[in-house]
Amino acid sequence: MKTVQTVNELKQIIAINNTKTIGFVPTMGYLHEGHQALLNKARADNDIVVASIFVNPAQFGPNEDLDRYPRDIERDTQLATDAGVDVLFIPSAEEMYPFESGITIQVGELSTKLCGESRPGHFDGVLKVITKLFHLIQPTNAYFGQKDAQQLAIIETFVNAYNFPVQIVRVPTVRETDGLAKSSRNVFLSEQERVEAVHLYKALQLAKITWEQTNDLSEAITKGKEHIESNTSGKIDYLEALSYPSLQPVTNETKAVLFATAVFFEKARLIDNILT
Ligand code: PAF
Repeated sequence: MKTVQTVNELKQIIAINNTKTIGFVPTMGYLHEGHQALLNKARADNDIVVASIFVNPAQFGPNEDLDRYPRDIERDTQLATDAGVDVLFIPSAEEMYPFESGITIQVGELSTKLCGESRPGHFDGVLKVITKLFHLIQPTNAYFGQKDAQQLAIIETFVNAYNFPVQIVRVPTVRETDGLAKSSRNVFLSEQERVEAVHLYKALQLAKITWEQTNDLSEAITKGKEHIESNTSGKIDYLEALSYPSLQPVTNETKAVLFATAVFFEKARLIDNILT
């Protein structure tokens, strides 16, 4: 595996491999089994696998956890090597954003729902870095976890709308044995919160089952919220059901329904979702 830190080195490697299929896995590091699933799929589908580790300042708000986002480059490098990554790109913020262009990408309506409501500008920042990474790496396929369902919906829509020559591949959420979705931020949970955190997934399942049995979405959402309130010390940011991937209110015509939640614990805001 080759580790590169500069855009120039990366461009040279991509140029040499321009006849090969490239699978790309963008990450913010502190890799876990969820990332491993993305890397494994990329490895199986492509000639070359490129992964990036970059804690992207553009997608963090002023009061968010940019400075304390967990980092372990040594462990990540080992994990990427073991997963068969060919090129690991680890740029600095200066390398990624050497000057301020004053030009921004604004997501619009898709970012007014779910996480976008409490994280203004977050998805604009995600598209800023993804655009740069796609242009630099020119991947055939790019891999994203279903756990970040809104991010995935926004990236799919963006790529479609602006004809990026890349296939976005959805990879299912990887969970701990008790059902908690794997996340780099789980490390911030206290022992008690870790026990409670599984109830996000349970609440989503309860909401989905209630909806399937009663066809009453508002009852389903209420039951889901009550479950989180009675079984965790966390504060609900949202628990909602929307069509997927358009993120519109559910109607009789809706094909796939996304049940999604975000909950604030003491030092971590966790998200999870399930799709019908
Ligand atoms: O999902 C993430 O880890 C990040 O949002 C991504 C896609 C790597 C962009 O910084």
